[in-house]
Formats: sequence, C-alpha cells, structure tokens
Amino acid sequence: MIFDPITICNLELQNRFVRSATHEFMAEEDGTPTSRLGDLYEELAKNEVGLIITGYSYVLPGGQSDNLQQGIYDDRFIEPYRKITERVHRYRSKIVLQIVHGGRQADTSDEYPIPIAPSVIKNGHSSVVPREMTEPEILEMIEAFTRAAVRAKAANFDGVQLHCAHGFLLSNFISPYTNTRTDRWGGSVENRARIITEIVRRIKEETREDFPILVKMNATDGFSPNSSKAGLGLDAPDCVEIAKLLEKAGVCAIEVSGGIGEAGGVTIRTAINSPAKEAYFKNYSKMIKAAVHIPVILVGGIRSPYVMGCLLENGCADLISMSRVFISEPDFIPKLKSGKIKKARCVSCNLCFDPKGVRCNFEFD
Ligand SMILES: Cc1cc2nc3c(=O)[nH]c(=O)nc-3n(C[C@H](O)[C@H](O)[C@H](O)COP(=O)(O)O)c2cc1C
Repeated sequence: MIFDPITICNLELQNRFVRSATHEFMAEEDGTPTSRLGDLYEELAKNEVGLIITGYSYVLPGGQSDNLQQGIYDDRFIEPYRKITERVHRYRSKIVLQIVHGGRQADTSDEYPIPIAPSVIKNGHSSVVPREMTEPEILEMIEAFTRAAVRAKAANFDGVQLHCAHGFLLSNFISPYTNTRTDRWGGSVENRARIITEIVRRIKEETREDFPILVKMNATDGFSPNSSKAGLGLDAPDCVEIAKLLEKAGVCAIEVSGGIGEAGGVTIRTAINSPAKEAYFKNYSKMIKAAVHIPVILVGGIRSPYVMGCLLENGCADLISMSRVFISEPDFIPKLKSGKIKKARCVSCNLCFDPKGVRCNFEFD
C-alpha cells in the first residue's frame, strides 16, 4: 500500500511517501535559495519521494526564525526557485513550498526587536514577550502569505503548504494558549482559524482556484499533564473542528503534527527505538481523518514499514511523512523496495540540526 499511487488535489503522486518540511540551513543570509537546496531536492526526487515539502520559507523579512532559512518575501526569489523546481520535475516527484511567519518564535534583531503574535503571551522558552498584532497588521499578513503563494506558483512549485504548526504565527492563532483575543480573530474555533481560512480564500482568488494549498497543523500544543500549562493549549476536540474548517475552506490535504517550542521536545522526539514509540501523533490523525474527506498526512517518528502499513490500513493516515529518515537515507524508498533494508536506520538523535547544512551526523559503526 505504501508504494501505491495517490492523487491529492490535482497532484498525482507515485507513492505515499512525503518528505516533511525540513529547514536545511542552506539559503543565503537574505533567504535566497541556493543550488545546494536544488542538489538536495533533486536527490530526493531521484530516489522516488512522492511529495517533497521544502524547508519553511518566510513570507516577510520579520518572519524569519532561524539562520540561513529560505525566504519567499520578494519577487527576486522566483527565479532561483524556478531553477530548483525544474530540477525536481525531471523526475516523477512533486514539490510544494512550505510558507511561514515565525510569529512569537521569530528571531529578534535591531530591525525587528519585538516579535508579533495574536496576543501578548510571554514565550516561556525564550522569555521574549511579543506584541499584539493590530487588525491592519493581520490583514497585511494575509496578503503577505497570498503574495508568497503567487510567487511559489510563478516558480512552478506544485503547491504551497501553510505552516500552521510548531508555535509559529499561524499556530499561535489556532491555539487558545497563545490567542486570547476577543475580536473576530480570537475566541471561538472559527475565529481562531479565520486568519488561515482567509489566507486560503485569498490564495484561491489570486491563483484562480487550481493551485494546491496544503496545511501542516498542530493537533496539540503538547503541554504535558504535569505542566503548569496543562489544559491551556490547543488539543482535541478543537483540532478536529479546525481540520473541518480547513477542508471547507478548500485546503486539499492536512499534515498532522504537534508541539510548540515551550512545550519542549514534543515535535521532534528523540529515541524512537521501538514500533510503539513511532507515529506519536497517530491518535490525533485518526480522529481528524475520521472527520474530513481530504487526504491526511501523518508525521512524527515513523520509521518502519510495518508501522507505515498499519497507519494506512487502520485509518490513521493516507500518506506517510518523514523528515529525519530522509536526512539520514535519501535513498530510503528504493532500499526498502528492493528489500535491502527492513527499517530506517535513523536513531532520532537530532544531531542533524547542523548550522552548516542539515545532514546526518550520527556515527554508525
Ligand atoms: C533538521 C530539522 C528541520 C526541520 N524543519 C522543519 C520545517 O522547516 N518545517 C516544519 O514544518 N517542520 C520542520 N521540522 C519538523 C519535521 O518536519 C517533522 O515534523 C519532525 O522532525 C518529526 O518527524 P520525523 O520523526 O520524521 O523527523 C524539522 C525537523 C528537523 C529534524
């Protein structure tokens, strides 16, 4: 089943494998994508990854949250991205640009000393206190995401993925912990999701309906039951309601993830060393999949074909998304297909966060 093709939106994918968005530390200082990114994505395409999702690309200069992160905030990025998509499209893979604003987790600098967020909730991880966005700023943010998607289309990406997870701006809005607004952008689930549904509506208007829009969303902020913030964050059943609203807005696939920075170690768990520890957001994706008709993509610690098969068969997901496995073994799919390996070799140590460029730094015997 994992090798079966599937159509999501209007995209015919050769199999069920997705390379989940992975910040590569390979752009120039100003966000310009480099040929190193082209090398990396071409390698994945050569190795039969059905859908490649790029590292997160910031839609406004103040929305950056890591070094050497790729940008999409200016038309000058269209041409270098076009070179990259052209290389991927020599193969059967599709490539989608993930677009983001860092929100309360954005980097601070002399130019952008205070991050923006839906509400003034101190970031317990960095101790930074963000500033509340005004209504005109929210409207301008919707336009910034829309312009980013229009650029992505001009660069021949097969779609965009809105990053609504991991504590960045759009996930700040859907979370009742980071969004305490009392206007039309906060409060009810519908209000908290409004910035996303408005972005979807505007992208559809500007790209004439046919450009695929995917979402990676937090199903949970991930505060543990023992934490002082237990119960304050996003969780079920709200995430299911949000998924339904996204489907209604015209989003064509939802990737289920979780965790925000200050919940600590929730998104990219370490020590996934048994099938029981794999697919750590599967209960959420199963709930969401039961409530929507669009394809559901699951990410988070998936390592073995046995687990992948169970996820597809048991209604937990339609597609299997992985980040660290493809860092460690870009040729994971052909190796699995040919029977050379029984599971991924990734030990989930997180040494792949390498500021010189993402790579597997674990020393195997
Ligand atoms: C080096 C690295 C960079 C990442 N960058 C992004 C990113 O840009 N956008 C995103 O949505 N998730 C990002 N993630 C999270 C992954 O997409 C994924 O959700 C997480 O690693 C769990 O999946 P895995 O167990 O298959 O690695 C990153 C993960 C790693 C290891």
